[in-house]
Amino acid sequence: MIAPAEELAVLAADAIEALLRREPATVLGLATGSSPLKVYDELARRHEQEGLSFARARGFMLDEYVGLAADHPERYRNVIDTEIASRVDFAPGAVQGPDGLADDLPAACAAYERAIAGAGGVDVQLLGIGTDGHIAFNEPGSSLASRTRIKTLTRQTRVDNARFFDDDVDQVPTHCLTQGLGTIMDARHLVLLATGRHKAEAVHQLVEGPISAMWPATVMQMHPHATVLVDDAAASRL
Ligand code: GLP
Repeated sequence: MIAPAEELAVLAADAIEALLRREPATVLGLATGSSPLKVYDELARRHEQEGLSFARARGFMLDEYVGLAADHPERYRNVIDTEIASRVDFAPGAVQGPDGLADDLPAACAAYERAIAGAGGVDVQLLGIGTDGHIAFNEPGSSLASRTRIKTLTRQTRVDNARFFDDDVDQVPTHCLTQGLGTIMDARHLVLLATGRHKAEAVHQLVEGPISAMWPATVMQMHPHATVLVDDAAASRL
């Protein structure tokens, strides 16, 4: 019997594989957090065992912490390399993220928007959801039309992410660079994964709540091609 989270990962991987088989030069939107990890495992398995190739694909990350050292294991650039980029056959430089170590952060955000547009936009964007309804790092109050920019992380998000920083919230950066909600909405297909009861309220708002900057993921209700993959616990308030 396949565990529900694995089943969701297979569905998400199927969507990505279908695109890659049809158009090898697909542009993938890559998310961090625990939600997509099983998808990456499944894609790495298909690469290894079934010859699924990423050689002509490109990847764009959703977000990045500001100021984490280049070799910090929780720097999202390093997380994405570990979890997916180094496990498949992306060409060198094919995966990009916003530069959280840039001297001029607003310029780095603008450059990142240009890079995504220059690649022709994202074909399929993987997403998780924060317990407060954020996607990428678009915290409550984010403009629904926002583009890549600097954001201050909420206390809730820093507490949620402290598990990656020795359970010490003070080690979690206070700022990040994140694709905006408008940037994410430009992707041609959104695939959001959520598992566990702690995501139930956010999933309820995402699917059934009024569209509101206070629950940023609700912007997805306006997307013409959005897939929301949830287990029973995350769906328990629907
Ligand atoms: C972080 C990431 C988000 C992610 C969220 C949920 O804040 N920036 O992209 O969706 O965490 O994480 P998890 O999937 O670990 O619950």
